[in-house]
Amino acid sequence: MGKVNILLKNNTWKYIPWNTNSFIVLLIHKKIFKMKHIIAFAGSNSSNSINKQLATYTASLLENTKTTILDLNDFDLPIYSSDLEAKEGIPENAFQFLKILKKGDGFILSLAENNGAYSAVFKNLFDWLSRAEQKNWLGKPMLLMATSPGARGGQSVLQMAVDRFPRHDANIVGKFSLPSFDDNFSEGKITNEELNKELLVQVKALENSL
Ligand SMILES: Cc1cc2nc3c(=O)[nH]c(=O)nc-3n(C[C@H](O)[C@H](O)[C@H](O)COP(=O)(O)O)c2cc1C
Repeated sequence: MGKVNILLKNNTWKYIPWNTNSFIVLLIHKKIFKMKHIIAFAGSNSSNSINKQLATYTASLLENTKTTILDLNDFDLPIYSSDLEAKEGIPENAFQFLKILKKGDGFILSLAENNGAYSAVFKNLFDWLSRAEQKNWLGKPMLLMATSPGARGGQSVLQMAVDRFPRHDANIVGKFSLPSFDDNFSEGKITNEELNKELLVQVKALENSL
């Protein structure tokens, strides 16, 4: 029986005896430890979106995870109209977005709140996605968030999504609202310890559901 160095999950090497059984165990572990892929994005098209900043920070807290951060500005879509859909069909960018969602194991989404509801750009994307595939959240685990400069931290839009998304096969495993963004977020991080702890609990919930 030979010996071989293997790389463990914590990035340390271990020298182990090597035989056929070891090979099978390694294959099982490779499957179990396959790095999960999270798609993170904001329901906003602001170039300096506070929700994108929050989604990006949240994604950075996940362990052993590959992350793709999307920007809705890269998925230009005409305003939904049933006439346009009948005439020209569903735009390619809606299918592209859905294709990326399908590649993910889970989602982090932080919604901008405009007049207590979804931003126009997100509502438009959601409408097109739901025309491409009604169950557009694909049953994958989602950490749903919102932030705003105000004290309510986008709680209205967050609740709106919590109520609606399950009809589109969302599997919401965590939710988080960050109030008063300018007071509680700085240099890419949440600065309020209590709020950060609250977010970490939600991040763990997402991790455990992947
Ligand atoms: C038309 C409009 C409506 C808004 N309505 C709300 C609101 O209802 N509640 C809220 O907390 N903030 C509201 N805001 C402020 C947004 O939360 C703020 O612009 C925030 O930066 C948007 O998120 P983003 O930076 O990710 O785009 C509104 C802003 C605009 C332009």
